[in-house]
Amino acid sequence: MKILVIGSGAREHALVWKIAQSKKAAKIYCAPGNGGIASLAECVAIKPGDIAGLLEFAARHLVDLTVVGPEAPLVEGIADAFEDAGLNVFGPRRLAAQLEGSKDFTRTASEAFGLPGPRSMRCTSVEQVVASGETLGYPLVLKADGLAAGKGVEICESVAAAKITAERMIKDRVFGSAGDIVVAQEFLEGEEASILVLTNGTDVVPLASSQDHKRIFDGDRGPNTGGMGAYSPAPVVTPGLLDRVMTTVIRPTIAGLKKQGIVYRGVLYAGIMVTKKGPKLLEFNVRFGDPETQTVLARLKSDLVEAMLWTMGESRELPRLEWDRRPSVCVVMASGGYPGNYEIGKTIEGLDHAAGLKDVVVFHAGTKQVDGRIVTSGGRVLGVTALGKDLKEAQARAYEAVGKIAFEGAHYRKDIGWRALKAVDGR
Ligand code: AMP
Ligand code: GLY
Repeated sequence: MKILVIGSGAREHALVWKIAQSKKAAKIYCAPGNGGIASLAECVAIKPGDIAGLLEFAARHLVDLTVVGPEAPLVEGIADAFEDAGLNVFGPRRLAAQLEGSKDFTRTASEAFGLPGPRSMRCTSVEQVVASGETLGYPLVLKADGLAAGKGVEICESVAAAKITAERMIKDRVFGSAGDIVVAQEFLEGEEASILVLTNGTDVVPLASSQDHKRIFDGDRGPNTGGMGAYSPAPVVTPGLLDRVMTTVIRPTIAGLKKQGIVYRGVLYAGIMVTKKGPKLLEFNVRFGDPETQTVLARLKSDLVEAMLWTMGESRELPRLEWDRRPSVCVVMASGGYPGNYEIGKTIEGLDHAAGLKDVVVFHAGTKQVDGRIVTSGGRVLGVTALGKDLKEAQARAYEAVGKIAFEGAHYRKDIGWRALKAVDGR
């Protein structure tokens, strides 16, 4: 098969890496790809937002399967465009992608399907936000309805803070129309986990659990980022907890949408808060998580392409996914200054040394090849991923590999996996 992967991050590198191991993959393209992906796939300079350009490329090159990495094209309807043109695509259609594209859609769906989650209210004015705070209390979580590149959620400690956030979102429109509706939520306490499943719109197959670290600094401090590291499995996701998430969140959502005539196909990512009262749904994503995917796919032994084809109705038999029992850890190396301003174009040294270590894979995020060198080209640069006999060893190996890589200004967290290690050690 000829397979096209859309996107340019370490998530897409992990997807391409796993797809390249499939016996079904004969040729892989990636649009636009990056400096690491270029060693496994032919990179083509088409942006993920250029749906017409991607469709034209896939049709012209007789691509058999297109795998969509990021959410924005899914929310824009890339799956509809491909399917309507008779092309196979992995990922949900536009109406189903609203689960990520509209927080208010998810709020309404949660109510209709009876999903466990924080109490939520829909607001379209600063006054309504303030009133919601009186009902839901503080801290108050405010979420811009639409896509905001991961910046659309604010946790407000006071009425004054909520007013400022509401004004920025609704009046100043810092996220454009994405902030015309704001969903206010009760603040939940607990430990977070990411549960990803594959689904064909009827049946559901869970992937290995994982957890990411969103904050820039050690101890989960500082501003939010796209994710500074991850580990799999997440010890907080016991078999009992997974079962509960499947029966109270995932299955009712897939079945409820189907009743509304919306068939959800692809991967569904539930962001779960494990509270004292059980698992609660914080958000859905309609794509693989980044950097969770790097840790999850590093452990997948089965053929990913076959499992993806199942979501598209190619076979009826549920994929039986086999996992490496060993845990994995991914440490993100970022450019100095990220998530604020940073410089690019720094030469990256030591990649071969790191990749030569046993059970280590270095996934590229913001890199490109220039004159035979690999240089930095983004905020998150690399996702250094390792397996180990236990989480501690996986962590040690990942950091050993990180220690072999150098570029000017490199920043990374030194404590990826700490929460899980604490849980394992019982400390
Ligand atoms: P979301 O994009 O909805 O997952 O929000 C991003 C992050 O904000 C989550 O990963 C949580 O850390 C936090 N968050 C979102 N909603 C809540 C909530 N209701 N209570 C506490 N934290 C939340
Ligand atoms: N790691 C969080 C996300 O992919 O949204």
